Amino acid sequence: MDVAQAIRNRCSCRNYQDKPVEQDKLLAVLEAARQAPSAKNLQDWRFVVVTDRERKKQLAQAANNQTFLENAGAILIACSVSDHVMRCGQAVGPIDVAIALEHMCLQATELGLSTCWIGSFYPDRVRPIVGIPENVVIVELLALGYAADTPKEHRREPLERIVSFDRWQF
Ligand SMILES: Cc1cc2nc3c(=O)[nH]c(=O)nc-3n(C[C@H](O)[C@H](O)[C@H](O)COP(=O)(O)O)c2cc1C
Repeated sequence: MDVAQAIRNRCSCRNYQDKPVEQDKLLAVLEAARQAPSAKNLQDWRFVVVTDRERKKQLAQAANNQTFLENAGAILIACSVSDHVMRCGQAVGPIDVAIALEHMCLQATELGLSTCWIGSFYPDRVRPIVGIPENVVIVELLALGYAADTPKEHRREPLERIVSFDRWQF
């Protein structure tokens, strides 16, 4: 599968088979995160991979009761450990983590796995489940596993709605 195909095929999966992700595939997905670009090459990301059933259940509850998470083979807790801010004023952490997460999503797609970004969660409820210290920012969760159904086609704005050339023309 080439990159363009992986980009087209990736979609958010909210219905998983109750099936673990093989270790070699999990490592390949994590390696895709490790290869991501990052500001100043700070690699401001840490990932806690949760496969334990009871912890996944607790994470689903901490994620606003998104119960589909329980069946995902793994839930990745994506964290940032620095408070570095770029000259442009943007915090490095969430950006670095986001790039790494999408690398993982695309690698997962190529391997026949499905993913779902999870931003609807309560960090202070996630923290104690796996012992994440207070000074660490929990940026996102990511569900990873085998889809139990085929997700619907996703709607996207046309290019002319989101791009202008040479000057701001929206
Ligand atoms: C930052 C971010 C947070 C998201 N949080 C959630 C979430 O908490 N629960 C969920 O079901 N989907 C979540 N999504 C998935 C989006 O709803 C989804 O990407 C969007 O509807 C487009 O659909 P697609 O991913 O299938 O292309 C999130 C996506 C992003 C990028």
